[in-house]
Amino acid sequence: MSLWNYKFWKSSQFTFSSLVCKCLALVVAALVLRAVLFRSFLGFDVNGKPIGSDNLARVLDKNVDYGIRRDKFLEVPQIVWGLNNQKIAFARACLTARMLNRTLLMPSLSASLFYKEIDQLQPISFDKVFQFRKFNSICNGFVRLGQYSELLNQTEVLEMQKGSGRKWTLARDLDQLKEFSTNQYDQYEVIRIVGKHPFLWHDHWPIKDYAKIFEGLVLVDEFAKEAERVISKIRAVGREFSDNQVLAKKGEVDNEDSTKFSSIPYMAVHMRIEKDWMIHCKKLEQRSNINEICSSKEEIIQRVANIKAVNNPTVVYLAVADSLLEDNTILSGWKDGLLPFEKKKLGVSHIYDKYPYLIKSAIDYEVCLRADVFVGNSFSTFSSLIVLERTQKTISMGVPSSCNNNVGWPSYAYNVMGDLDGPKKWFTNMSDTSLQAVSYGSNRVSC
Ligand SMILES: *[C@@H]1O[C@H](CO)[C@@H](O)[C@H](O)[C@H]1NC(C)=O
Ligand SMILES: *[C@@H]1O[C@H](CO)[C@@H](O)[C@H](O)[C@H]1NC(C)=O
Ligand SMILES: *[C@@H]1O[C@H](CO)[C@@H](O)[C@H](O)[C@H]1NC(C)=O
Repeated sequence: MSLWNYKFWKSSQFTFSSLVCKCLALVVAALVLRAVLFRSFLGFDVNGKPIGSDNLARVLDKNVDYGIRRDKFLEVPQIVWGLNNQKIAFARACLTARMLNRTLLMPSLSASLFYKEIDQLQPISFDKVFQFRKFNSICNGFVRLGQYSELLNQTEVLEMQKGSGRKWTLARDLDQLKEFSTNQYDQYEVIRIVGKHPFLWHDHWPIKDYAKIFEGLVLVDEFAKEAERVISKIRAVGREFSDNQVLAKKGEVDNEDSTKFSSIPYMAVHMRIEKDWMIHCKKLEQRSNINEICSSKEEIIQRVANIKAVNNPTVVYLAVADSLLEDNTILSGWKDGLLPFEKKKLGVSHIYDKYPYLIKSAIDYEVCLRADVFVGNSFSTFSSLIVLERTQKTISMGVPSSCNNNVGWPSYAYNVMGDLDGPKKWFTNMSDTSLQAVSYGSNRVSC
């Protein structure tokens, strides 16, 4: 469940209905005014190119690529909500620190999903989940994470109060960042961000910048090994199946032959069909006038069956909400040659059960990220982040993201109809100037 989307939907719905109650002309007027203000705020650079997020950041911090100050810090509140929201909020904290040319003091993440009562949020230090040094080495020269032990003992702290609500616009947020990145605050060793809902910080950065940060998020060994165990189990059931096929064909197992067949691919399907998602997505469809957001179980199964690039047999790992593990019907109806498993049938529930929400989610994320083929919902932030990383991995292999081949890390969106009644091929548009499509969902999946 994407709380982020939910929250966004709630607030937008409120805005929307109250405006409609007044009159349509007011809406139009407001939209025109907003467009004018937004445009004039953005301005244009000397080449006549609009100064959008990334250009603006560059104008502000010409020298930022030459290094981040190691003796000036930014402190942010505990990072909260779902895994995806935490990743995005963490990236925003990093990019804010980068704008201020400061080192980000390593923040706490939240192990649990409680989001109403801050005291139930089980803080967990960033380096208990992701590798601290690896992050700094991957992001070297771009952003830097620091430890509290690096602070002097007479630290000068300046509080930076973030606003919230509708009046706290993108422009105001950016003005504040601009102000705090001037040298008048250099005497403060630490700038501490305070305020509610830092995860709603406005988005001033191009998608490439987010991708760099996400690349630096490598799970600590303990959890990476758990993900590895789940993946080995998936590979093992595939191997077992193909060995049995060889056995059936030849009447006996010849060791050399069976290894030939031993590696069968796996596909991960992030199947969002639980009740609260269905309610949320139906409302989103009504509000946005898009009918490609919700997919039923039947539609997902049918579209996945029509992916031509997938060989038979293939193990299908179903990444589903825990509430669906009791529903055996998700395992039936799959095309011959597709072998569906979720964590229960796979016999890996005990691995997940040891951990709090955040870690469970991070393990599932890793399993989906490394699948031969991934199929998700383009309105889910979890799916969208996976596709973003898979696109990035494909590009770094030197493969141009092409909608027509299956080299690299192919992904599909089952909620959008593609070729031959299959799901639509899906890439993240790495030239996008904001994270909008990833954090709020979109049915434009670049293919
Ligand atoms: C950022 O700090 C580095 C020193 O670590 C300095 O060389 C660079 O000029 C600074 N950039 C800005 C925009 O302040
Ligand atoms: C504070 O600084 C002094 C000298 O600079 C040092 O001796 C002392 O150990 C420091 N205290 C802490 C708590 O770091
Ligand atoms: C990707 O984003 C850029 C910038 O927003 C846009 O110009 C381009 O048309 C997009 N490409 C696709 C394939 O959607």
